[in-house]
Amino acid sequence: MLVDGRHYRTIWPAGGGGDVDIIDQTLLPHELATVRLKSVADAARAIADMLVRGAPLIGATAAYGMCLGVRADASDDGLRSAYDALIRTRPTAVNLRWALDGMRDLLAPLSPGERAEAAYARAAEICDQDVEMCSAIGDHGLGLIRAAWDEGRETVNVLTHCNAGWLATVDWGTALAPVYKAHDAGIPVHVWVDETRPRNQGSGLTAWELGQHGVPHTIIVDSAGGHLMQHGRVDLCITGTDRTAASGDVCNKIGTYLKALAAHDNGVPFYVALPGPTIDWTISDGLGEIPIEERDGAEVTEIRGRTASGEVTVVSIAAPGSPAANYAFDVTPARLITGLITERGIAEASAEGLAGLYPERAGSGNA
Ligand code: MRU
Repeated sequence: MLVDGRHYRTIWPAGGGGDVDIIDQTLLPHELATVRLKSVADAARAIADMLVRGAPLIGATAAYGMCLGVRADASDDGLRSAYDALIRTRPTAVNLRWALDGMRDLLAPLSPGERAEAAYARAAEICDQDVEMCSAIGDHGLGLIRAAWDEGRETVNVLTHCNAGWLATVDWGTALAPVYKAHDAGIPVHVWVDETRPRNQGSGLTAWELGQHGVPHTIIVDSAGGHLMQHGRVDLCITGTDRTAASGDVCNKIGTYLKALAAHDNGVPFYVALPGPTIDWTISDGLGEIPIEERDGAEVTEIRGRTASGEVTVVSIAAPGSPAANYAFDVTPARLITGLITERGIAEASAEGLAGLYPERAGSGNA
């Protein structure tokens, strides 16, 4: 997507020797800076410390992490240690395991001399396919926004949570792809952006990328969505997901469940957008089986921002000494979800709905 009129992806090979560049998302929205990944440790750190985040981008970065690993050591031990370093980085987004398992299964049967070239080719393919899938999600979701506009609204108001835009993928985004497509098609669309405490992926990242693309939007505190829905000011909700169970249960950024409850109570359609690799076919009970990441309580008790003098700094916002719990994700049961917007079309959030779109995967038990 565009930043100051220039097209960017979130990750790309750089320098000609196999290094990889990413956008450091911890610095946004205050600074747009890239970081060069030179080793598997760099890639693992970028995922764990959330320089890159969002399920599809975590998968793409892990794939390039395997490239950097085999570039340094293409032996069986090198392959294993790269896999082990990367799989530990974040627990919830299943795209991580999907990408790593796919790379390992591709590379393990090859001779060490063949591995690096095959790894880079596959990582590039994963990125290109992610762009294609997200664009297709946009095309399918566009139909929903167009239908809401065709009902006679002046503007279609979409509420989203966290950042499931292009910064969370390689390009386009999942939840925001339909918004970009609608905006580009001339449909007046406005986005209510949940700030998404504690890390503020909404106010920092979603608002930034919507602004760069010229999409009208308004940042709201996380607890405002229910009020807006009660007053008819939200036409549909679209969020992303880090892991979707084969049953259609969806795990996404903490607070997504509360938005789905409010949408259900107010008759507001609640859609979740996802590419196929975000479905975990091994899990049928989202609530009981998806690991929920718990992060440092300091993310709750402290906040980072820019002062009036321009300095970016961290300040404490909590009573000194009070403990904080930091659950990063929650699970929204399929019954609260109007539909799943995938690259293959829109499915009912159910085992049957997903099986209908992915007949070759249903019942496979493999991610
Ligand atoms: O903790 P994050 O920022 O990685 O969480 C990201 C989300 O919750 C996104 O909604 C999800 O990964 C979908 S990304 C297209």
